[in-house]
Amino acid sequence: MRALAISILIVASCLSSAEAASAKRGLVLAKERCSACHAVTGHGASPDIKAPTFRRIAGQWPVEQLQEALAEGIVTGHPGMPEFTFSPREIDDFLAHLRRLRGR
Ligand code: HEC
Repeated sequence: MRALAISILIVASCLSSAEAASAKRGLVLAKERCSACHAVTGHGASPDIKAPTFRRIAGQWPVEQLQEALAEGIVTGHPGMPEFTFSPREIDDFLAHLRRLRGR
């Protein structure tokens, strides 16, 4: 547990502070809008077992594709979910959070 905390600190200190602040806002967004179904942080299972964790999404999806999907509003793959769209600024923040989950 301590080793994990230390490695998180090292990763965090490698990010510029602007990027870190952006990622933090992205995490807040993800918690507000996505965490009812998805695991949005670096650990834990998704509340909806059908929803992939954001760790997995971060590892699988090219960032540009996600950017497009977020700008257009993700509708596909989301039965029962109200349509949502992100402003360009929110998308930057959200992707900063995903890059952080991906570990770079
Ligand atoms: C009401 C529950 C719910 C909410 C809220 C939700 N999702 Fe999902 N999401 C799902 C489910 C379920 C799937 C898997 C769908 C499938 O595989 O058929 C999914 C899949 C995804 C995928 C992968 C799509 C694919 O085709 O592989 C992405 C990306 C995604 N969600 C992003 C988000 C983001 C970003 C938010 C918040 C803005 C969000 N989701 C909010 C339920 C939800």
